[in-house]
Amino acid sequence: MPTFTALQLIDLTARLFEAAGAPPAVARQVGASLVEANLTGHESHGVIRAVQYVRAIERGQINPRAELEVLRETPTTALLDAHWGFGQIAARRGMELAIAKARQHHLAAVGLRNSAHIGRLGEYVLMAAEQGLIGFMTCNSSLLVAPHGGVDRVFGTNPVAFAIPGGRQPFLTDFATSACAEGKLRVAQARDRSVPAGWILDRDRRPTTNPSDFYDGGVILPLGGHKGYGLLLMADLLGGALTGHGCTALPEHTSGNGVFMMAIDVEAFCPLAELASAIDRLFEHIKAGNRAPDCEEILIPGEPEMRSKAQRERDGIELPETTWRELVEAARQFGLREGLDHAAMT
Ligand SMILES: NC(=O)c1ccc[n+]([C@@H]2O[C@H](COP(=O)([O-])OP(=O)(O)OC[C@H]3O[C@@H](n4cnc5c(N)ncnc54)[C@H](O)[C@@H]3O)[C@@H](O)[C@H]2O)c1
Repeated sequence: MPTFTALQLIDLTARLFEAAGAPPAVARQVGASLVEANLTGHESHGVIRAVQYVRAIERGQINPRAELEVLRETPTTALLDAHWGFGQIAARRGMELAIAKARQHHLAAVGLRNSAHIGRLGEYVLMAAEQGLIGFMTCNSSLLVAPHGGVDRVFGTNPVAFAIPGGRQPFLTDFATSACAEGKLRVAQARDRSVPAGWILDRDRRPTTNPSDFYDGGVILPLGGHKGYGLLLMADLLGGALTGHGCTALPEHTSGNGVFMMAIDVEAFCPLAELASAIDRLFEHIKAGNRAPDCEEILIPGEPEMRSKAQRERDGIELPETTWRELVEAARQFGLREGLDHAAMT
């Protein structure tokens, strides 16, 4: 597989978005967010999405020059309309605003409507943790997932993410509340692999482990039965109903992510150093515990992403040949030539 540095992929995707009509700073930030997903091991939300975003611009589903509008605001809250701009830009601005408000008033919540796909949520909640605040975020998304006990598509894969600042490392948990993110089915299908039982039903609503059955009219199940169902619904209500973006199954929902985010000032509860110390000691305690027979190491949520990032910053990011070819074809379509020979880039 061709291997690239993060900078090479940021440059290429930024040029692509700029050629498709995005202002340079916007193009670069969206490219950087996608590459961050590749670095942290979430390929499904990385540069594989770049061509998809360009096609969405061409169809008018993403407005690369959209201005964010503040629809409602109080000292501790805001409701933003992204006007179908890039989700990565809107989500970062939303979290920046939540952080600024929480710095002043200790607690803030921001809602975001009419946002295109925001990608990997972990990036935004970590913005809060890096500044000594707790970050929370959830969103709804497009129609893929059944309610517990149901067989119809009612929800998106509706991720939730929390980040809490620690001493040696932050706590980061960030996952879809469906049995799997849709990207994992796409990857399994591309590799001709089966998926674990309990992830999907086929078009006749029978359990299946063949990922292609999902794309042939199947449905994804909630994570952990009724418990994930509760989280899916929470994300849809906060991200969809509260913000006015629309609940996924209702006619007012068109596409993209309706987003709800919060920032909480740790110092309103305890000194940051005290929390960091408790977190460090707890993580040590967890990691020193007895392991299940098939477990090599007990990890802390957020650790897989940090390790992947360190490794890929050092060794480069491998891209499947098909992803690279799609990027090159899209770049050529815009008359971009320079830097498209991956042999020269590795
Ligand atoms: N924007 C959208 O519409 C949308 C929709 C769904 C998912 N997503 C994003 O997709 C990404 C992937 O979601 P996913 O559900 O496939 O995530 P996942 O199943 O890969 O789980 C990721 C989480 O689990 C933790 N983790 C993984 N292995 C671990 C281990 N062995 N021990 C402890 N913790 C461990 C990670 O640190 C991370 O917090 C997320 O970043 C999410 O935000 C976005």
